[in-house]
Amino acid sequence: MKELIQKLYKENHLEENEILDLLNNINKEDTEDIISKALDTKERVYGKKVFMRGLIEFTNYCKNNCVYCGIRALNRNADRYRLTLEEIMEAAEEGYRLGYRTYVLQGGEDDYFIDDRVVEIINSIKSKFPMCAITLSIGEKSYESYKRFYEAGADRYLLRHEIASKELYDKLHPNMSFENRINCLYNLKEIGYQVGAGFMVGLPGARNEYYAKDLCFIKELKPHMVGIGPFIPQKDTPLGKESKGTLETTILMLALTRLLLPEVLLPATTALGTINPLGREMGLKAGANVVMPNLSPRSVREKYALYDNKICTGDEAAHCRGCIERRINSAGFEVDMGRGDNITWERIK
Ligand code: 5AD
Ligand code: FES
Repeated sequence: MKELIQKLYKENHLEENEILDLLNNINKEDTEDIISKALDTKERVYGKKVFMRGLIEFTNYCKNNCVYCGIRALNRNADRYRLTLEEIMEAAEEGYRLGYRTYVLQGGEDDYFIDDRVVEIINSIKSKFPMCAITLSIGEKSYESYKRFYEAGADRYLLRHEIASKELYDKLHPNMSFENRINCLYNLKEIGYQVGAGFMVGLPGARNEYYAKDLCFIKELKPHMVGIGPFIPQKDTPLGKESKGTLETTILMLALTRLLLPEVLLPATTALGTINPLGREMGLKAGANVVMPNLSPRSVREKYALYDNKICTGDEAAHCRGCIERRINSAGFEVDMGRGDNITWERIK
């Protein structure tokens, strides 16, 4: 194990079979070694900085039926909402006052938000806050749509691949196509976005073979961002009675991702903070360097319920920033409120 870990640290590369070997044979001491090497790697690239993004969850309508997700179309208990352009702008303005210079616009795949409406949102934010970065997270679209959004000024796009095993992907995503999802990620890269892929940890049926595939896929795609969080059951979904992903495995996946992609922007996710009160801090100490506090209006926070017991639901955006900032400082890191671009990226066009 020691040689594999050393190779990963020095070369930032392992073959799929080596990753699998590592995952199958790892002990506590190895895990600690990987975590400390991941922290060291992050600090060499980004120092103590933790980048803050303001998350605006603007619609929980979704036409898909991912079996793990609380806002799937078939969940009749989901209390649906859409923010108006005015409400989105208010959230962005509140974020700006609080110091945020980057917004993540996230929503389900909602046909109400046709391309013209998405472009209108991008234009409104960019004309008021030209210095701010915009990240979209609105699912699978055509190459042409992605290109229009980019040309309108969107800088980044998050589209987790969810799981790199086609077999399990197909079971979890009725009427969706694994090939299309992967193709979307390559299209986004080609257009020039900073691209975020990522996966869930502890999905029912998950195995080390699948994590090795996920990590290998990440290494191959080389996204600028990687979102990794534990699966958390949502009671109104088909997986509502399954058990959640573990803290340990999620932390290990974050650390391995940092070692495979030293420059990656890696969030300590809300889901990680939901399964353990100190989950996000532990993530930051294992190589994560991004936190995405919620800027959505208070009235809709609880409705964007991808999973049960989600944190950050009960309070103001300002409270959320204060809370997370104190936590980041006490974990030994510094908040950076800048755009926080991946250091290898520059906008073309
Ligand atoms: N538990 C954890 N994460 C979830 N997501 C969706 N449903 C769940 C769940 N039950 C994640 C998916 C999606 C991201 C926005 O939230 O990975 O890409
Ligand atoms: Fe949202 Fe703590 S980060 S309340």
